[in-house]
Amino acid sequence: MNFESLLSRVDEIIKSEGENGLQSVCNLLHREVKYYNWVGFYFMNHETRMLNVGPYAGAETEHTEIPFGKGICGQVAESGKTFTVDDVSEQDNYIACSIETKAEIVVPMFKGESLIGQIDIDSHYPAPCSDEDEAFLKGVCEIVSTVV
Ligand code: SME
Repeated sequence: MNFESLLSRVDEIIKSEGENGLQSVCNLLHREVKYYNWVGFYFMNHETRMLNVGPYAGAETEHTEIPFGKGICGQVAESGKTFTVDDVSEQDNYIACSIETKAEIVVPMFKGESLIGQIDIDSHYPAPCSDEDEAFLKGVCEIVSTVV
């Protein structure tokens, strides 16, 4: 499936299931994109300055809470900018979830002007993501932001 049709599927899922559709969205992306080996959402708690894990597909993670500033996800919580990591072994501020992970992309999710969360993709393949992945994942975040 290409990104355009995947995005339409995401839109259909969210329009019909609302917030309950987030798990299906993770499962869909995990199943359809061979280099998306962990797909999950983190949502921000601005009071505690913590990211809390939401629905995800892939290996179980211990990192259900991540402080702002820590790891790739925590850095995106502070910057509000997409962070693409081609090789996680080159990152000092990185939280390892699986030894199989070689690359990661984290795309912020906004509701209006406010940063509310992010989608996090881990890959077992080195440098798999392009601008197309970023554009696609931004689209996913825009759709999901309408129901969370
Ligand atoms: N690798 C992330 C932590 C989250 S797990 O990948 C699920 C990071 O460095 O923020």
